[in-house]
Amino acid sequence: IKRVTTHTLQWMKQRNEKISMLTAYDYSMARIFDHSGIDVILVGDSASNVMAGHETTLPITLDQMIYHAQSVVRACKRCLVIVDLPFGSYQGNSKEALNSAIRIMKEAGAHGIKLEGGEEVCDSIKRIVSAGVPVMGHLGLTPQSIYKFGTYTVRAREEEEAEMLLRNAEALQEAGCFSLVLEKIPATLGARVAEKLRIPVIGIGAGNGVDGQVLVMHDMLGITQNFSPRFLRRYLNLFEDISDATRKYIGDIKSRDFPNEREQY
Ligand code: KIV
Ligand code: NA
Repeated sequence: IKRVTTHTLQWMKQRNEKISMLTAYDYSMARIFDHSGIDVILVGDSASNVMAGHETTLPITLDQMIYHAQSVVRACKRCLVIVDLPFGSYQGNSKEALNSAIRIMKEAGAHGIKLEGGEEVCDSIKRIVSAGVPVMGHLGLTPQSIYKFGTYTVRAREEEEAEMLLRNAEALQEAGCFSLVLEKIPATLGARVAEKLRIPVIGIGAGNGVDGQVLVMHDMLGITQNFSPRFLRRYLNLFEDISDATRKYIGDIKSRDFPNEREQY
């Protein structure tokens, strides 16, 4: 199998071929996604929510991200594996950012990292890229700064904020990012950014004019409940399916149906 690299993604943008990306946090799921032909797996700090049960992405640590990343990397034969730098592991200064990126590359064997923010993180990005580590940017709704905004609503609806996002996107490209995630912004703005930048732009709630799409696996598979933003398309309702299976299993034990004759030694 030919591996997906950052160059493959650049090539895909040039050929107008859309990029598919999903999050994963463990070996077994990553194995299924890689086997199914996903282009990129993101070990997102959304692990803080869907794996650990926290309200926000802020509490997850670099050590915990590395643990998830190690499991995912072991499963992937084809796809590109990108890992989020968690909150507090890069905002201090560019040296701290570089050290965190190096730990993820070295200890997990990841292929690149992602971090949130615009101009304010460009010095860190330049330093990480100089060390040979591919960096993906992340603009629009940036969950690590949720307490600055106070809500998870659509970002950059006003022209002034849209212009700022465009400037930040260009700054990230100039700083050396190989790609950029745009979260929860108007589709027209997503298309403007994708058209303006050379690097591939991956959207989550950023419309159909960007170069690829990403979803959190638990949302895509219908494991999460009470989360139905407009951008989310559910391909399964696993919460219900797993609940049904669990209830059947319990019932079979209680009724003494399980195990039957053929299921014992
Ligand atoms: O952590 C995450 O899952 C992400 C994606 C939503 C882009 O950053
Ligand atoms: Na994230």
